[in-house]
Amino acid sequence: MRAAIIYHSETGRTRAVAEATAARCGADCIRVYPRPAYTALTRFLFGPRRAVLGHHDRISPAPIDVSAYDTIVIGSPVWAGHPTPPVVSAVGSLQGCRGKEAVLFVTCCVTPGIALERMSAMAEGMGMTVRGGMAFPGRSVHDPLQLDALAALVAKKPEE
Ligand SMILES: Cc1cc2nc3c(=O)[nH]c(=O)nc-3n(C[C@H](O)[C@H](O)[C@H](O)COP(=O)(O)O)c2cc1C
Repeated sequence: MRAAIIYHSETGRTRAVAEATAARCGADCIRVYPRPAYTALTRFLFGPRRAVLGHHDRISPAPIDVSAYDTIVIGSPVWAGHPTPPVVSAVGSLQGCRGKEAVLFVTCCVTPGIALERMSAMAEGMGMTVRGGMAFPGRSVHDPLQLDALAALVAKKPEE
């Protein structure tokens, strides 16, 4: 089983979950960067509206070829209850994902809103089947039990 963890992270929390999960189950991490990058100001000024409207950002790398992987993991910060524009773009740019299983996760301060539902719909729209998803509010991004649970979900074989 090979897994790719594709994620966007501005302040390091989603990255922490991605890297801890990769270390637990031997997945490869692919971090996507918005181009141009957000600043602290533009993130709060434009981020929530762009996220709610489901806008795409230009990202690097793109497209993202996942033909070599069996499981596609997608991680996003929550912005105004939604996945971030770079994650919307990353999912749309996937190549070789049709027929594969996806695992989703989001990090947030308090509540994930409808971020996981939106990501599920996007993954299914790209021909993937969603195996499951987890939200990491607050300090749970560093909770070993929560991280173990995500790694177990990623490592799970489709027929299990
Ligand atoms: C523009 C913006 C909107 C946010 N909206 C929410 C929200 O709706 N709910 C929530 O619990 N946290 C919200 N947050 C907090 C982030 O989801 C949280 O800090 C996340 O873990 C950041 O991930 P990162 O460090 O990987 O960028 C928001 C943060 C930003 C910058």
